[in-house]
Amino acid sequence: MKPEVTYDGMTFVPYITNAQITERISQLATEIKKDCGDKFPIFLCVLTGAFPFASDLFRTLEDIDAEIAFVRLKSYEGTSTEGKVRELLGLTTDIENRTVIVVEDIVDTGHTIFNLLNKLRAQNPAEVKVATLLFKPEALQLPIKPDYVGFEIPKKFIIGYGLDIDGKGRNLNDIYVIKN
Ligand code: IMP
Ligand code: MG
Repeated sequence: MKPEVTYDGMTFVPYITNAQITERISQLATEIKKDCGDKFPIFLCVLTGAFPFASDLFRTLEDIDAEIAFVRLKSYEGTSTEGKVRELLGLTTDIENRTVIVVEDIVDTGHTIFNLLNKLRAQNPAEVKVATLLFKPEALQLPIKPDYVGFEIPKKFIIGYGLDIDGKGRNLNDIYVIKN
């Protein structure tokens, strides 16, 4: 853990340690195993930010039968998260009648996940659940209720453990919050 990190002139300080993340993931894995352990779920890791969380969560669930796939949302047009048109890329596995667990790094306004859920439901999965490491309830603009939440956090910008600022900071092992 670093005392602080600076990217593009912005300074961030420690917020959630890797040890806390690991402990929370183990609790989430227990819940997921209880709910979905016998359903041969398919985990859908939403690239890029969710890859460390998906990796740790998936490996914590080593004693259930499960698949993992990686998807990406390509955005076009619009400057705001609301106005974006998103195309779902990379889903080559048939999810019809499957239990799908979407793995996200963060749910902020909810627009990304809302859009993704609509696209997935069009393919007739048995059920779609959302596991997000972080959730900013105060920022939410759409009726989204993630099934598995690592940490609820206030509306502040964070980086690390997959989360980036302009592509940087994803390789930090801990999570850092912007310094006021
Ligand atoms: P949405 O607003 O819920 O659609 O989230 C859009 C995306 O914004 C997320 O998938 C993240 O990539 C990014 N994001 C939201 N909040 C943060 C943050 O605090 N740090 C880094 N990325 C963030
Ligand atoms: Mg993301």
